[in-house]
Amino acid sequence: MKRPNAPFIEPATADNVTRAVAWLRAGSLIGLPTETVYGLAADAGNADAVAKIFAAKGRPADHPLIVHVASAEAAKAWAASWPAAADKLAAAFWPGPMTLIVKRASHVLDAVTGGQDTVGLRVPSHPVAQAVLREFAGDGAVPAGVAAPSANQFGQVSPTTAQHVAEEFPDQLLLVLDGGASEVGIESTIIDVSGAAPRVLRPGRVRAGDIERVLGVPLGEATDDAPRVSGALASHYAPRTQTLMLAEPRLRMQLRAFRNAKAAQPMRCVITHSFDAEPMERLRTIRLAADAETWEFELYALLRELDQERYGTLIVETPPETPEWDAVNDRLRRATHGSSPDDL
Ligand code: TXA
Ligand code: MG
Repeated sequence: MKRPNAPFIEPATADNVTRAVAWLRAGSLIGLPTETVYGLAADAGNADAVAKIFAAKGRPADHPLIVHVASAEAAKAWAASWPAAADKLAAAFWPGPMTLIVKRASHVLDAVTGGQDTVGLRVPSHPVAQAVLREFAGDGAVPAGVAAPSANQFGQVSPTTAQHVAEEFPDQLLLVLDGGASEVGIESTIIDVSGAAPRVLRPGRVRAGDIERVLGVPLGEATDDAPRVSGALASHYAPRTQTLMLAEPRLRMQLRAFRNAKAAQPMRCVITHSFDAEPMERLRTIRLAADAETWEFELYALLRELDQERYGTLIVETPPETPEWDAVNDRLRRATHGSSPDDL
């Protein structure tokens, strides 16, 4: 009898890294741990392998993929030109949670770039990702690269553990290397250096202020002519549970209203950072430290866990508006898109 396809999780031993590289060379998909989130990885030079990523994710073909390589030197082989800004940013933040958008080299597949004249490049710092990329690179003039979007179904939150990846692709034959929980927890900062002024297309752990310090000039505004980023869709990071944000005063009022309600209440969950919500029936309360890095690390895993518990509503206390919180606010705006307090 034919066994159904399914993912399987393997510890990231040296043998399993070699095995994962063999899978990539054979045109198969693997689940790749990185410090930001897990990727669904394929040989970026193999159009059939790249097509499997789009099919598995249900992702529209015109959404470009990031190519991952082991070093800035390797990244340059995937670019047609390497501006001074790219040099400075690579020196400051690679290996690490940053993706650079540059003009693509002519060998880069259309399937990877979505037909655009640019390509996204990243050098991850996770030791398992580094080991896979170094071994996969080979000794050609162009080091082989790995195309990897976040390993989630299109429109779902990104996975931060090997188990999450397996849950997202239950029917996919997939070798998932277990590299532990991703230490950043949200996707890389994307910086477009292909135009006149560098600009941030997606905020992440590498902060705008740090980028400006390294570049020595202010960042440009991301405008409508920015290259297509699927993470830029208003509701891209969508949990299934209705999720909304309320600022602290409004949230306290709402909690009082729940407490005083006469009718039976649905199960709800609230996540705060500035105060402890008083316990009450049919309300789960979670308080995360008022620190952007903690929220980045916890957010997706928490959304995923809470989604499985089928709460009527998840209410998140609006985070501070300071630049440090840009990435958290960006992801929460998408997760709460279309929900309003009137729905409560
Ligand atoms: O942290 C990350 O970046 C993770 C890990 C696995 O590296 N990857 C990731 O990939 O988040 P993905 O595909 O889920 O998100 C990458 C975003 C997409 O929104 C895509 O549209 C954008 O990067 N992107 C890729 N190439 C681009 C390009 N040439 N121009 C503009 N945006 C691009
Ligand atoms: Mg993604």
